[in-house]
Amino acid sequence: MTLIINTLWNGSTMRAIVYDQHAEAGRVLRLSEQPPPHPPAAGQVRVRVLSRPVHPGDLAVVQGFPGAPRGPFAKPRIAGLEGMGVIESAGEGVRELRPGQRVAFFPVPGAWSELVTVPSELVVPVPEGVDDETAALMLVNPLTLLTLLRAVEEAQRDGQAGPVVQTAAGSSVGKLVSAAAREHGIPLVNLVRSATGAQTLRRRFPGIPALSTDDADWRAQVRDATGGRGARVVLDAVGGSLTGELAGLLDDGGTLITYGQLGDGSTPLESLALTPRALTVRGVSIEQWMARTPEERAEDVAFAARLAATEPDLFEVAGRYDLADFAQAIDHVRRPGKSGTVLLTSPAA
Ligand SMILES: NC(=O)c1ccc[n+]([C@@H]2O[C@H](COP(=O)([O-])OP(=O)(O)OC[C@H]3O[C@@H](n4cnc5c(N)ncnc54)[C@H](OP(=O)(O)O)[C@@H]3O)[C@@H](O)[C@H]2O)c1
Repeated sequence: MTLIINTLWNGSTMRAIVYDQHAEAGRVLRLSEQPPPHPPAAGQVRVRVLSRPVHPGDLAVVQGFPGAPRGPFAKPRIAGLEGMGVIESAGEGVRELRPGQRVAFFPVPGAWSELVTVPSELVVPVPEGVDDETAALMLVNPLTLLTLLRAVEEAQRDGQAGPVVQTAAGSSVGKLVSAAAREHGIPLVNLVRSATGAQTLRRRFPGIPALSTDDADWRAQVRDATGGRGARVVLDAVGGSLTGELAGLLDDGGTLITYGQLGDGSTPLESLALTPRALTVRGVSIEQWMARTPEERAEDVAFAARLAATEPDLFEVAGRYDLADFAQAIDHVRRPGKSGTVLLTSPAA
């Protein structure tokens, strides 16, 4: 309380988007004046944040995953995990980063605020030529791509490589998967929920079949596109009632990789014929990326920075909103047919 009174008295508060308990993001998120984070200790930097993405996953964190505690938190939590900004100050022992430098950061709980104090190893200098908006999107989605590709590779490891189907293929992550499939010759089939979405994807990635679950015969179309036997792997970000259908699209011995929950409804595990068809269901999350060694993480981050520098079109921005307009930003994230990622912005000073 004393800290809050002091900082208010000094006029040195910062804006932040906070929530007091897990629930639907539109209902619990609120704009708040918060005390700024502490000055950087040894090995830390303080960053003035300019731009941060609103990922569907950020909203899922606010909502709370199954098993998350219900009821009010002891103190408000600031939303967000990724962003970019400018270093304001650096703690003792920080050598490679200096005030004024543009950086991207992840994973930093509290990214939806105007200032963050961060361990310097979670901060990545923005490559020259990469603009601020691309930099704000530089880490989470490319690192998710790498995590998904590794999971696909593991599912194919028994020598039975085969077709891969991905759902929500028009998403920002889905487009990265398509670009990687084109680059590495992965036999991908894209699945979306509307004919317009399928058409847009076919134009963007000619040569990769794009089908819509809106077509009455979409299951037969997927079966044809996967050579009649079904998919070796399904990469799924929709889940819910679609899960049963997706398991039905797998070849025997295939793997359903689930990494998102955009859909409604649910599918009982018992309905999936896992045992007779030797199917695998595997959950994949970017949280697992933090378990990689520092050297492996550095390689992955270098990949992400290279991608941002060489393929900026893969980091499309759907819209920009000031922090104060976070409710409109959330509505935009959920708007059908949105293309790209929504950003929350704040001024440089
Ligand atoms: N596990 C992880 O660590 C991790 C990390 C990053 C992302 N993700 C997940 O990856 C997914 C994509 O993220 P993103 O940021 O790339 O998304 P995004 O750019 O916001 O795109 C969302 C896409 O999902 C589609 N969609 C929304 N609701 C749908 C539904 N009920 N059925 C079918 N399609 C639906 C939309 O299709 P329309 O064009 O038809 O509207 C849109 O193409 C999300 O589920 C996210 O949580 C997971």
